Amino acid sequence: MPKVLVSDKLSPRAVEIFQARGIEVDVKTGLKPDELKAIIGAYDGLAIRSATKVTQEILDAATNLKVVGRAGIGVDNVDVPYASQKGVVVMNTPFGNAITTAEHAIAMMFALAREIPQANASTHAGKWEKSKFMGVELTGKTLGIIGCGNIGSIVATRGLGLRMKVIAFDPFLTPERAVDLGVEKVELNDLIARADFVSLHTPLTDKTRGILNADAIARMKKGARIINCARGGLIDEAALKAALESGHIAGAALDVFEQEPAKDNPLFGMDTVVCTPHLGASTSEAQENVALQVAEQISDFLLTGA
Ligand code: MLT
Repeated sequence: MPKVLVSDKLSPRAVEIFQARGIEVDVKTGLKPDELKAIIGAYDGLAIRSATKVTQEILDAATNLKVVGRAGIGVDNVDVPYASQKGVVVMNTPFGNAITTAEHAIAMMFALAREIPQANASTHAGKWEKSKFMGVELTGKTLGIIGCGNIGSIVATRGLGLRMKVIAFDPFLTPERAVDLGVEKVELNDLIARADFVSLHTPLTDKTRGILNADAIARMKKGARIINCARGGLIDEAALKAALESGHIAGAALDVFEQEPAKDNPLFGMDTVVCTPHLGASTSEAQENVALQVAEQISDFLLTGA
């Protein structure tokens, strides 16, 4: 009977699925790297979220490991090239949290447009600063989506529902799909020059790192706003801070940061910045979906090799 370790907090549905499929499962969360290293040799499969770091050292100790399943989209916490070299398959669940993450991006866009977090803090403090918070409407504004895949395309349809003009940059977006979605496919430079709101939905790769760097930010419209619920390294944080200070960029809503957990960041404390602690996938529905999907996928792989 194959044996799986669940080493991050997953919905209990995952355990139920492994057991129903005849797979022995242990749940041990919060392990230190040395503790994981000491026990990983006993397992055929490893189910994780983002806390467990699957490094070369862990993979070297994982003498029976055949598959690592990430309940979520990004596999940044797994050394994928080394896992592949060792014959360990790495899988993710690309669809389970797409709606939830897209909804978070839309929530962040509203928060930026109407300064909701700032107004909330001010009202709780008994200040009643009615004239301080003057927002902007979303209707009629141009929403620029960088990365129009599973999540970006949902943001696009929601943006259209809000009567925004949606433009998208994505080398993999076919003209037919763009027409189906109702978005205008554009080049990156065009998007940067035209968007009132730019929302990032691309993975972090060598090509996308710093896609919003100082030069790109300088070419954005004055008063534009940025939303990032994808990955921290996509924006040059120092350049963003300078553009917010000069007023060139009116605001930024960030769920992700260059360094996470982000306990300290140059953008913290700025009243034009809205922050959340990587909550993009944090709804009960999404966590149920990704747990269920990762357990099914790992089970299929271990039981049938598929
Ligand atoms: C993902 O990659 O699925 C999201 O960033 C959410 C997460 O890391 O929990």
